[in-house]
Amino acid sequence: MAAYDLIVIGAGPGGYVCAIRASQLGMKVAMVEKRTTFGGTCLNVGCIPSKALLHASELYDEAGHSFGKMGIGVEPKLDLAKMLTFKDEAVKGNTDGVAFLLRKNKVDHFHGTGRIKAPGIVEVTFMNGETQDVDAKSIVIATGSAVAKLPGVEIDEESVVSSTGALSLPKVPKRMLVIGAGVIGLELGSVWRRLGAEVTVVEYLDRILPGTDAEVAKTLQRILSKQGMIFKLGNKVTGIKKNGAAQVVTVEPAQGGEAETIEADVVLVAIGRIPYTEGLGLGDAGVSLDKRGRVIVDEHYQSSAPGIYAIGDVIQGPMLAHKAEDEGIAVAEILAGQAGHVNYGVIPVVVYTAPEMASVGKSEEELKADGVAYNVGKFPFTANGRAKANQQTDGFVKILADATTDRVLGVHIIGANASEMIAEGAVLMEFGGSAEDLARTCHPHPTLTEAVKEAALAVDKRAIHF
Ligand code: FAD
Ligand code: NAI
Repeated sequence: MAAYDLIVIGAGPGGYVCAIRASQLGMKVAMVEKRTTFGGTCLNVGCIPSKALLHASELYDEAGHSFGKMGIGVEPKLDLAKMLTFKDEAVKGNTDGVAFLLRKNKVDHFHGTGRIKAPGIVEVTFMNGETQDVDAKSIVIATGSAVAKLPGVEIDEESVVSSTGALSLPKVPKRMLVIGAGVIGLELGSVWRRLGAEVTVVEYLDRILPGTDAEVAKTLQRILSKQGMIFKLGNKVTGIKKNGAAQVVTVEPAQGGEAETIEADVVLVAIGRIPYTEGLGLGDAGVSLDKRGRVIVDEHYQSSAPGIYAIGDVIQGPMLAHKAEDEGIAVAEILAGQAGHVNYGVIPVVVYTAPEMASVGKSEEELKADGVAYNVGKFPFTANGRAKANQQTDGFVKILADATTDRVLGVHIIGANASEMIAEGAVLMEFGGSAEDLARTCHPHPTLTEAVKEAALAVDKRAIHF
């Protein structure tokens, strides 16, 4: 008989949530993690440290620029080492929390690197080189993702950094060049700009945040430009050379043309992430990968090898912590004979810039491409009482509803606290709600959420305050 019902490889948001849910459902669960702490990319070098720095740097920026007009006289002084400690403490609080949860749920853990030796057997190699075979009825691969590299560009995590290095720069660079206007580029670019760096973002495409609603992305680009971020869209980096302490970056128009060079003190490479399956022995175990290196799974998250499942960044779909978590819960429930399920049409996306941008469901471009007739309801924060009181009036709420049924198909928010407000759209869409449902729901006053209600009213052209 196998020692465990389930072994989960990787303790990120996908893996540790899966382990906890499986334990709740009565399974005997083991977790294998090669990092010394739990929580994966998200808690150690992703979501949590980046949000700690975004929070701290936003307050620093506000203290310098917005406090005065509220009658608060302060001259902010940056202590970067302390800010980094604040970030590290946030990480520790969260990773310790996961360790506590795993203990509480009686999940056994093995700190070492897992390799699938055969279906049902994971060989763990510990830090000291010793190995141990652990066997289980089922295996879940939750090994996440790693930084995508730019050919010819070496990341030393000091002057040419990935997101990991950009979370721990020991001093504020005078000039930072960011490659990629995706989520990481805009979030971490914002952090260092607020702390005093001159930030230039080079993006291959002719827009920022590909895949998001174009109108919202354009608005965010305009606001970030006003804050001082410089965008070079439709350009690619073709090489980086050192000149003393400076990095000389060669930038070329994406469609061809004359190259130019830009000097920077630190270059952040943020061109995406790739699934991480190194050393897992997947080929020998009979687990197939797609062209992009992702583990191929069926609708039950089972790979091509029976008894071996995969979730999170290592499979298809958006590389988001909450998507990985929901898949972790779903696969645990499926293994317990229940109907685990993830609704991929309702996965919110948030960009934690200031203002924040948050979306759920379809963009206008997607609805047009699908040939779906829709109505648009829009409401600007300039017309929202709370936003006016706080003098945070940048942005708007946009609701897209089916022209025939009024069912909400997409909610897009750019504005302060968009990350919190988007959950309202997600719940509504999960229940198949209409713009009318939202418009008839009483919202507290004065709150920014009233702009969501007004956008729903605007779908039927009856917004009150605009
Ligand atoms: P991971 O979190 O990557 O965890 C995988 C774990 O597996 C790792 O701990 C790794 O050490 C371990 N592992 C790998 N191979 C082995 C092996 N052979 N043996 C043992 N252990 C192994 N997402 C959001 O939703 N919101 C955000 O705000 C957000 N911010 C981010 C900011 C940054 C800078 C980055 C880089 C990412 C961010 N993400 C965010 C994305 C998010 O971190 C990932 O989507 C999420 O962590 C994926 O979870 P996962 O469980 O699939 O994998
Ligand atoms: P991304 O996929 O979001 O953006 C990468 C950008 O780089 C794209 O705009 C792409 O067009 C551009 N690009 C690619 N190659 C290029 C080149 N050679 N030159 C110039 N531009 C180039 O990837 P990013 O920002 O690295 O983030 C990785 C993942 O992490 C994302 O998929 C995201 O889901 C996740 N993440 C999520 C966060 C959140 O939810 N708030 C925060 C940070 C990361």
